[in-house]
Amino acid sequence: MHKPCALSWQVMNILSFRLLYKQPSATRGGSDVMAVTPWLAPIIWEETFNPELVDAIYKPMNLTIATTVFAVGKYIRFLGEFLETAEKHFMVDFKVHYHIFTDQPQEVPAVNLAAGRKIFVHQVPKLDRWQDISASRMQMIQTIIEEQVHREADYIYCQDVDAKFHFRWGAETLDRLVGQIHPWYYDLSRDQFTYERRPESTAYIPSGVGDFYYIGAMFGGTVEDVYRLVKKCHENIEADKAKGIEAAWQEESHLNWYLLHNKPSKVLSPEYMWDDQRGKTEVMRVIRLSQILKNYGEVRENV
Ligand code: GAL
Ligand code: MN
Repeated sequence: MHKPCALSWQVMNILSFRLLYKQPSATRGGSDVMAVTPWLAPIIWEETFNPELVDAIYKPMNLTIATTVFAVGKYIRFLGEFLETAEKHFMVDFKVHYHIFTDQPQEVPAVNLAAGRKIFVHQVPKLDRWQDISASRMQMIQTIIEEQVHREADYIYCQDVDAKFHFRWGAETLDRLVGQIHPWYYDLSRDQFTYERRPESTAYIPSGVGDFYYIGAMFGGTVEDVYRLVKKCHENIEADKAKGIEAAWQEESHLNWYLLHNKPSKVLSPEYMWDDQRGKTEVMRVIRLSQILKNYGEVRENV
């Protein structure tokens, strides 16, 4: 009979990475896309779905979709355009609750919202470092889910505010746990991904492992699944902090660790959060939402 042995955390860590497999690809080269992951989650690109059909299925469900954006410090300047363009393209004809976290509630612009859509403003302190503002989002999302969102919404999507919608961003994105492929990494090998590479961090991902490099600026899913995600990421951020470690890309590194070990049920292509700094590439048929060009020296609290 096997006697269970006490495994050290290092051994456990190695075991959890034991299943080695080929890196999934997001494209088939050129402009042809890959529409499913090796664990059979759809990858959503333009032309892989029929928007009218998707809407006909989801609209009768009477869903409420919460979305979170953080407009802290100078990032408040992006909020107006984010909301105005969201009203044109984001989950049109669905009930949407915008949860805005800001240190300047009086600066939240008045935007005309379609019926069934609401804004909730949550006051938060302005932290001194952009890295801390960014990482603290996991905990704040956890708190509003506990306090409010779990009663009021079916899905929750968490997005960066320094972005603008250009095209349909709709119900095709709805699923249990949803991550998005980062616009700068969809065509690179996983050893080039900017995962956290120090074994001391809870976000550690060794080389030779990894599916996609997911963007921290967009993740979502059902309220229950996003709650598990933000709670675990927050816990891991705190564990690292206690050891004096900050992951390479703060909460984005922790999100990547989480989505490696908890596979997303749907993966969004980079169409859903592009980066205007990267010109449109061959594979991109549309850009739905994109991070706008900005001068980091001007908008970040510290450089
Ligand atoms: C950059 C992006 C950062 C982070 C980084 C990861 O393009 O601006 O927020 O995602 O990639 O390498
Ligand atoms: Mn951003």
